[in-house]
Amino acid sequence: MHITPKGRHDMKIGIIGAGNIGGNLTRRLTAVGHDVHVANSRGPQTLSALAQETGATAATAEDAVRGAQVVVVTVPLKAVPALPAGLLDTAADDVAVIDTGNYYPQQRDGKIAGIEDDGLTESRWTERQLGHQVVKAFNGTYAQDIIDKARPSGDPQRVALPIAGDDAAAKQAVTALLDEIGSDTVDAGGQDESWRQQPGTPVYGLAADAAAVRKALDAASPERTAEWRA
Ligand SMILES: NC(=O)c1ccc[n+]([C@@H]2O[C@H](COP(=O)([O-])OP(=O)(O)OC[C@H]3O[C@@H](n4cnc5c(N)ncnc54)[C@H](OP(=O)(O)O)[C@@H]3O)[C@@H](O)[C@H]2O)c1
Repeated sequence: MHITPKGRHDMKIGIIGAGNIGGNLTRRLTAVGHDVHVANSRGPQTLSALAQETGATAATAEDAVRGAQVVVVTVPLKAVPALPAGLLDTAADDVAVIDTGNYYPQQRDGKIAGIEDDGLTESRWTERQLGHQVVKAFNGTYAQDIIDKARPSGDPQRVALPIAGDDAAAKQAVTALLDEIGSDTVDAGGQDESWRQQPGTPVYGLAADAAAVRKALDAASPERTAEWRA
């Protein structure tokens, strides 16, 4: 569905990862007028098709982040420690960092001890790798829904996405951004509560309104089941 852009905002947004999620966030965020810089692991020369399609700038991770007011980290969890050290140091001082990551120990990531043995939530572990606070968002959203389920504010079919994190100002910025690209948000609490939206929970994969999202968050169990262990 097409949502009328509210005009150019000139907010620099760096997207680290140009796969299923990074690609579709590039599409939506450029569509509403943001200045999107997108990076992958193979280099900007491999992103020319996405850049041409969307008007985003293909960049290195360092260039995508420099001066950015919002950074989206959307790479496989096992790739987070491989991101350049101090990557976020050159972002805007009040940068809001969105983390879309999920731990898939059996299919993709292998064992991450900080999560399984030390009991860190997945996004708390990511914060420690990045040396920066994050807002957990989009992690339970099918990539295609970022395009297909976008609806203007007030539309009865609009979905709500849970966001978790400890930085209230960053959460406010993320809420405004999600509103622009077509969804409501539900504040799911701080990072230590963010297990409520991790894989295997009732809200994971749910595309529903705020009341249903709240109910699903409340019904979550903190236990990490065998399916989500290495
Ligand atoms: N797919 C979904 O529907 C979905 C939904 C919610 C959350 N998630 C989560 O979101 C994250 C991303 O998922 P995805 O499906 O978008 O992944 P994906 O399609 O596999 O894409 C991963 C992207 O990360 C890039 N990347 C890997 N290592 C990098 C590095 N060191 N520096 C810069 N870029 C790097 C890859 O670049 P190259 O291709 O050049 O290697 C690729 O563009 C994962 O944690 C996933 O679990 C996915």
